[in-house]
Amino acid sequence: MPNVTHSCTPFPGQKPGTSGLRKKTRVFMEPGYLEAFVQSIFNAIVGASGKTFVVGGDGRFFNAEAIQTILRMAAANGASRVIVGQDGLLSTPAASNLIRQRGADGGLILSASHNPGGLDADFGLKYNTANGGPAPEGLTEKLYAETQRIAEYQTLDTDDIDLAQIGVSQLNGMVVEIVDPVADYAALMRQLFDFDRIRTLISEGFTLRFDAMHAVTGPYAKAILEDELGAPEGSVINAVPSVDFGKGHPDPNPIWAKPLVDLVMSSAAPDFAAASDGDGDRNMILGRSIYVTPSDSLAVLAANAHLAPGYDNGLAGVARSMPTSTAVDRVADALSIECFETPTGWKFFGNLLDVGRITLCGEESAGTGSDHVREKDGLWAVLLWLNILAVRKTSVHEIMQDHWRTYGRNYYSRHDYEAVDSAKAAQMMAELIERLPDLPGAAAGVYVVASADQFSYHDPVDGSVSENQGIRVQFEDGSRGVVRLSGTGTDNATIRVYLERFIPKDGDLDMETQTALQGIAEAMAHITRLPEICDRQAPDVMT
Ligand code: G1P
Ligand code: ZN
Repeated sequence: MPNVTHSCTPFPGQKPGTSGLRKKTRVFMEPGYLEAFVQSIFNAIVGASGKTFVVGGDGRFFNAEAIQTILRMAAANGASRVIVGQDGLLSTPAASNLIRQRGADGGLILSASHNPGGLDADFGLKYNTANGGPAPEGLTEKLYAETQRIAEYQTLDTDDIDLAQIGVSQLNGMVVEIVDPVADYAALMRQLFDFDRIRTLISEGFTLRFDAMHAVTGPYAKAILEDELGAPEGSVINAVPSVDFGKGHPDPNPIWAKPLVDLVMSSAAPDFAAASDGDGDRNMILGRSIYVTPSDSLAVLAANAHLAPGYDNGLAGVARSMPTSTAVDRVADALSIECFETPTGWKFFGNLLDVGRITLCGEESAGTGSDHVREKDGLWAVLLWLNILAVRKTSVHEIMQDHWRTYGRNYYSRHDYEAVDSAKAAQMMAELIERLPDLPGAAAGVYVVASADQFSYHDPVDGSVSENQGIRVQFEDGSRGVVRLSGTGTDNATIRVYLERFIPKDGDLDMETQTALQGIAEAMAHITRLPEICDRQAPDVMT
């Protein structure tokens, strides 16, 4: 069957520095748009010829159609094999695992993560490399260049492949292998965690609720938590992936997963509750009347990971993104292991994981993970929590209290100012950068600035430098404020202000979070002049 060459135009969709493309679904559906991006990926990796790829997505609207396009194009570009999740489904961590386990050259993952799905919502596609992780900066630069000069793409004129049928078929000489999306991932989890112990805990009456938010983790959580670990049917809710995620935001935080938070705060609370996002890489952890912040969760997992078989040799080191609270740093200190501070974005953990400098890592934005894959992993975090609970035989609440009584507590919250005029946001940042040298010693309310700088990251593995990664303000009492502009917001500028206040272990560990942070919030407003310059008195979202 002959290849068909279509011409296409360079397109403005791709932002420099990103490994994927996230746009309105209708934009992706415009003739030639998806195709131009897929061909740009193949061109950026210097051709698909003879290569093996993993392909799958979070099941949102246009997932299956886009996969058919990718299969035709991969075959036309000479790929030798494509491994696809049944029905086109693969969670992001499961795709990362498959790439690694099967020694694939890379993977194309279809998802817009926690953004809503549907014809009038969002769609996305990203490329992961052979280590299973997001494309590193060198490749994203090449990819960007290709999107700006793409002129034609290669495809085939064929019928659709049946994505529902597990097994192997041929598409113009390329092998198409449809696999169970859950099996290999579940096998990996079985190696890392003490399933017997978790099964016993559940059989003894421990109750849990997992909200899959109508997204991709439904089948994974059903198979692992209910079928394998014995949680009663109904423990996993919203478990059937739907193309529009039940018209919700599949974003596991107290705002979009509010019903679950309400449940754990009620008298009907289960012992443990959790949720994951559209593509399964984010997580939210809850216990009876308690919400665990992602930064605290990372610290607790680091302090207790040795209780799970996969980590019983201890941790090589840990890493957190710069705005993530320093709670994990205190654990690393106590364990005498290295702790790295990286820029926002999972790709910065890749090198450290690849060379074995770190075992665990995480971000304040509900992402935690380890060296088992090269993406953050929502269900992994849930299983590690369950393993810890099964060994320690105590409540989430007690684990948190115990943690704070040992290490002190880092009260933490992120304040987002959305759809801010881009010019004003840029002005605020520019003026703040100019004032940075004058800040040390300055008082802001009751707080005194100890140091203030622009964060730049020197990758200890490949020596690369990433500049302008946000502004850090350190206060004399160990508290901290961070401000940066979002790289993923779509409507003008999103300003993120991160607030952190440290209270030592013998201090008040039971304050309401926003109350505890009010002074820092005021200090940061004073220092950044955000209210005056951007004309905003209060954040739109506090997480
Ligand atoms: C946000 C999160 C960041 C995460 C990224 C991709 O980026 O803050 O931690 O890695 O989404 O999931 P931001 O919009 O802040 O640039
Ligand atoms: Zn995600």
